[in-house]
Amino acid sequence: MRILVTGGTGFIGSHTCVALLEAGHSVIIVDNLSNSKREVVSYIEQITGQTVLFYELDVTDAVAVEAIFVKHDIDGVVHFAGLKAVGESVEKPLIYYKNNLLSTMVVAEACIKYGVERFVFSSSATVYGNNLVPFEESMPLLPTTNPYGETKAMNERILTDIVKANPNLAVSLLRYFNPVGAHESCLIGEVPNGIPNNLMPYMTKVAKGEFAQLRVFGDDYPTVDGTGVRDYIHVVDLAEGHVAALEKLTAGVHVYNLGTGCGTSVLELVKAFEEANAIQVPYEIVARRPGDIASCYADSTKAKKELGWVAKRDIVAMCRDSWKFEKEYID
Ligand code: NAD
Ligand code: UD1
Repeated sequence: MRILVTGGTGFIGSHTCVALLEAGHSVIIVDNLSNSKREVVSYIEQITGQTVLFYELDVTDAVAVEAIFVKHDIDGVVHFAGLKAVGESVEKPLIYYKNNLLSTMVVAEACIKYGVERFVFSSSATVYGNNLVPFEESMPLLPTTNPYGETKAMNERILTDIVKANPNLAVSLLRYFNPVGAHESCLIGEVPNGIPNNLMPYMTKVAKGEFAQLRVFGDDYPTVDGTGVRDYIHVVDLAEGHVAALEKLTAGVHVYNLGTGCGTSVLELVKAFEEANAIQVPYEIVARRPGDIASCYADSTKAKKELGWVAKRDIVAMCRDSWKFEKEYID
């Protein structure tokens, strides 16, 4: 298939392009480079030995998006393009709602107009809110604590309504848990803008000596050791989940958790990172971070049963590859 990948130079998008190319598909990337670099295109080509078409454009620009659909025969879309910084979304809600909702509507509209029936959307486990773990796809969506999370839930509803009106469309809503790690080549990975908010990228910078210590946000949650529990997933596994979702798509809306099904606490992750990499991560316990929940991990049986996909890389591989990327990546 020829797949249009919006946000394809970003963290998850770039790994998914590699997985798609390795599975025999061809890829067209569109990205406005607001949170990624053009060089990623050549890194994807270097890893796979294949050519990738790239267009620098904003997917909220309907005219620019339509021109791509006119020029190319597209079989499916994987829509990653979006803004994802939770704190920034609280400060600049309009920018988040506009970018993350309009982009989906513009791309979906072009799909309908040009008869492109396969559409895969990047959603998030954040839509489960404070449901009881493990999260199952059938659970009701609960309010999230920030505009970023709300854009994910709204996009899911928008796409569901679009499919009701266009029953030929085949849409997969993929709810990611906590992606970490990087491609083994260290050519692509997560390159956060400024001080990282997420645990793994912050921890790798502590290990490197850029920050003195990790702040562990709360040790009084009802979890194994009082610290927050999350379902960390290797980004290469996540990328492979997209290939499976695209290849198995049938008409209608399908929702899948892409997680490992295993919860790991903050302190367990620190210990695993120290052991995997033989390096110390100094930390202090501080107050809970507003908006955090105690536990978030997937029931991943539906993706296994229906897509034949399971995450294969364990927490040791995630810690090793995150650290390797931090050390070897040249910005
Ligand atoms: P990323 O920021 O690395 O990638 C997103 C890409 O989209 C970037 O390259 C950015 O330049 C591009 N982009 C943003 N707005 C655009 C626009 N209007 N037009 C064109 N390009 C645009 O983020 P990521 O971690 O790869 O996440 C990809 C998707 O997955 C996002 O939708 C994100 O919300 C979602 N997601 C990410 C996580 C995570 O932890 N990383 C978790 C759940 C869901
Ligand atoms: C966060 C977002 C979520 C988003 C996800 C993307 C919030 C409230 N939630 O989720 O909407 O989908 O990122 O990956 O921002 N922690 C520390 N110290 C740190 C950083 C984190 O102790 O410096 C803890 C957190 O309290 C949490 C765990 O580590 O228990 C994971 O945090 P993080 O990596 O930020 O991810 P989420 O909170 O799951």
